[in-house]
This record gives sequence, C-alpha cells and structure tokens, in this order.
Amino acid sequence: MGKKEVNIGLIGFGTVGTGVVRLVHAYQEDLYKQTGVSIHIERILIKDPLKERPLSVQHGLLTTDPSTLLNDPNIDIVIEVMGGIEPAKTYIQKALEKGKHVVTANKDLMALYGDELLQLAARCGCDLYYEASVAGGIPILKTITDGFSSDRITKMIGIVNGTTNYILTKMMREAVSFEEALKEAQRLGYAEQDPTSDVDGLDAARKMAILASLGFHTGINVDDVSCKGIGGITVEDLNFAKQLGYTMKLVGIAKRDEWGIEVSVEPTLVKDTHPLAAVNDVFNAVYVYGEAVGETMFYGPGAGELPTATAVLSDLVSVVKNIQLGVTGKHMPLSYSEKVLKGKETIYAKFFLRLIVQDECGVLAKIAEWMAEEEISLEKVFQKPYIGDQSQAELILVTHFASKKSIEHVLDLLKQSDFIKEVKSCYRVEG
Ligand SMILES: NC(=O)c1ccc[n+]([C@@H]2O[C@H](COP(=O)([O-])OP(=O)(O)OC[C@H]3O[C@@H](n4cnc5c(N)ncnc54)[C@H](OP(=O)(O)O)[C@@H]3O)[C@@H](O)[C@H]2O)c1
Repeated sequence: MGKKEVNIGLIGFGTVGTGVVRLVHAYQEDLYKQTGVSIHIERILIKDPLKERPLSVQHGLLTTDPSTLLNDPNIDIVIEVMGGIEPAKTYIQKALEKGKHVVTANKDLMALYGDELLQLAARCGCDLYYEASVAGGIPILKTITDGFSSDRITKMIGIVNGTTNYILTKMMREAVSFEEALKEAQRLGYAEQDPTSDVDGLDAARKMAILASLGFHTGINVDDVSCKGIGGITVEDLNFAKQLGYTMKLVGIAKRDEWGIEVSVEPTLVKDTHPLAAVNDVFNAVYVYGEAVGETMFYGPGAGELPTATAVLSDLVSVVKNIQLGVTGKHMPLSYSEKVLKGKETIYAKFFLRLIVQDECGVLAKIAEWMAEEEISLEKVFQKPYIGDQSQAELILVTHFASKKSIEHVLDLLKQSDFIKEVKSCYRVEG
C-alpha cells in the first residue's frame, strides 16, 4: 500500500470526460474507501480552448498540448475519452510506453486494434481496461470475463446500439418511416449528423466483436461479423411483424457450437415474449446464455454522460487497486482457442419472408416444394390481398430452423420465378 495519491491525465472533456470529472469529485470519499488513495485529475487534453464547457475546472488544468500530459511523470493513469482512431491510438501507445496505465471508452479503437494495444500494455507492464466501450453503463465486460469464468457461454444476444433501438422503437410504436424516426433521433441528439456507423450496424458490429472475443476466448475481428443495417426496414414490415407477435430489433448475435462461432448484426424479429423485446428507446441489453446458469440478461443505459462515466470509473478503481497491490500489468497467460468461423451451411435460424405473389392456384404449393427440397418447413403462413394490385397477394412466411445457405438458395429461386412479383423482405427471427 504505497501511494497516497494517484494522478490522472484525461484525454477528452466532452460528454464522457465531463462525466468522469463530475464523478471523481462527487465520489472522492467512496473512491478513497475502496482504494486507500485520493484520485486527482492532473491535466485534461482538449482540442478547442475557446469552447464553452458545461463544467468549469481549475485554471491551468486544460491543455491542447498532448506532450504536457503524456510526458508528465506525475501522471499515473491516462483516461482516453476522446474517440476515433487517430490520434487516440498514438496517445495510448505513448502513454503505455511511458509506463502509464490506460482506461479507454473507445470501442472503435478496441475493436480494430485491441489485440495490438493489449499486447503493448503487457510488454510495458501496464494495465489497459475498456469496460465503457460496450453497452455504456452496463458492466458487461467484467461480467463476461469474471462473472462467467465458472461457466461456458454459448450464446450472447445484444441490443448494443441505442440510436438504432430508439429509431426502431419509434417506428414500431408510431408507424413512422425510417427517415422520419432518424430525423427525430438527430433532433434529440441520439443520432449523429452522419448516422452511417449506427444505422449500418457497424457500431454494433464492433461491440459484438469485443463481446465475442471475450466471451468465447478467441480473437474475433470486425471483419468476422456479418453485418446488415436498418435502412431498408419499412412500416409495412413492422405491421406484419406486430400481427404475428414479433418486435423488430437490431440485434447482435454471437453463438458457438460444435461447428464453430458465428457473429452477426442484423435487423431481427424478436418474439414479443422474449425479454429483449421489452428493451426500448435508447436502452441497451445483453442476453447471455451460459451452459450451466441458463438464461441471464443485463439491461441499462448504453450511453450518456454519467452512465458511461461510471464504467470508466469502475476501470479506474480496478487499476488503482492493482497499483496498490503491486500487480499492474500482470495477466494470466491467455489460452485463446483457435478461431473457427461457421459457414452458411451450419448457421441455423428461423426466417420471416414477405413476398408479393401472383394470387393463383399452386403458388403456395410451389414455394413449399422448393422449401421442402432444402429441408425447410413452415411455422406460420399469412396471406392478404395486395393493395396495389387485386391479382396479386401479399404472403408472409415464417420458417422453422433452416440453414442460411438453404434460405438464400430458396430466395434466389423466388426472385427468378414468374409468379413471385417481389421479395419484399427477409429477416432472421429469434426467441
Ligand atoms: N457519449 C457516450 O454516451 C459514449 C458511450 C460509450 C462510449 N463512448 C465513447 O467515449 C469516447 C468519447 O465520447 P464523447 O461522446 O465523450 O465524445 P465528445 O463529446 O465528442 O468529446 C470528445 C472530446 O475529445 C476532445 N478531442 C477530440 N479530438 C481531439 C484531439 N485531436 N486532441 C485533443 N482533444 C480532442 C474534444 O475536445 P473539445 O471539447 O475541445 O472539442 C472533446 O472534449 C468515444 O470513444 C465514444 O465512442 C461514448
């Protein structure tokens, strides 16, 4: 128990950075009780010195010069809450090389360069923690690595992007279009002006890569995650889903079985009775299935100033405890499993198909025949006249479990056939 004070260099004083400063001050006494040291913010790196700040800090604390923070021998821990790849990556590397421990909330960086940075941290004898990078205020990474260390996780399903969850909740509840819901999300500050990374599923894919790597003890990259966004979802799709008892969610799925691992992010119809169907607005949740424990679910705010700051502070406390115990940079040697990714022939799910078909005898029989050839059977069939043309009908099919390869083959046949006017949509079904 050597130190009496630990000094922090904070990189970034935006939403999360402000929350970190607020909580370090508000919880000073509780932090002291847990660690035996007082935690002191020594310097804060910002970009724009003229910007008005929601929280005023002591004169001289703010700097625009990274070297004053990275080269300061008094700074023990660097908290990176600036975001983006560069210069954040360089700053973290420099901090580690100078023997400073690092806490980051940067999912983009950790999903792309996590392995490299963790190896550097180990070589430098430093800690590198990143709890806030997935699902903001939900302490999911520690739960998976520590809480589930006595079990074998076989499946994780995450609603890990608040922006898309807000948009889909609004579309479901108010029957508004994707474009209208996105505009509202931007007005409320839930979506960026350029929302591509959220609506295309990339942000969720990065988080799922981190979750799958930790949960399955292997190295999953973003490129291993099959990814589809929510841009093509229509109000009609959602109305049919509702009638059949489903809720649309952008869901990240990480599964492992005897064939290997699959990780995907895609719009998915979740049965209304599944706990994930009740996760609305900007909230996040991660459903984790452990072989021994069975079903568990972790729910909470996936973003925001104070929720995200709590995750950062929790990492900070871990590092400070390690400093006090003299065990920083000490990791159990990881025995990573070899990464075996499943092919489409071993990825099984239920599927929802919405088709516009010629309303005539034998159509359904032909579709059923093609499906039977691929060993696909139907769980639900629903038909109604197509409003646009009385000679056509709208046909909704929900399959039993089928391989992704088989369903894609049937979709190809449907698209080529004369009596199928349009394949409107195809979604995975869960629960
Ligand atoms: N916001 C959330 O709810 C949330 C949730 C989970 C994870 N995260 C992650 O947390 C990180 C920070 O997010 P945020 O929402 O707090 O971002 P933010 O509000 O945009 O704040 C970014 C901060 O970094 C500073 N900065 C940006 N570029 C810089 C540069 N080149 N040099 C020095 N300072 C620079 C900015 O300085 P100025 O103030 O001078 O412009 C600002 O203070 C990101 O990695 C994000 O993915 C955020």
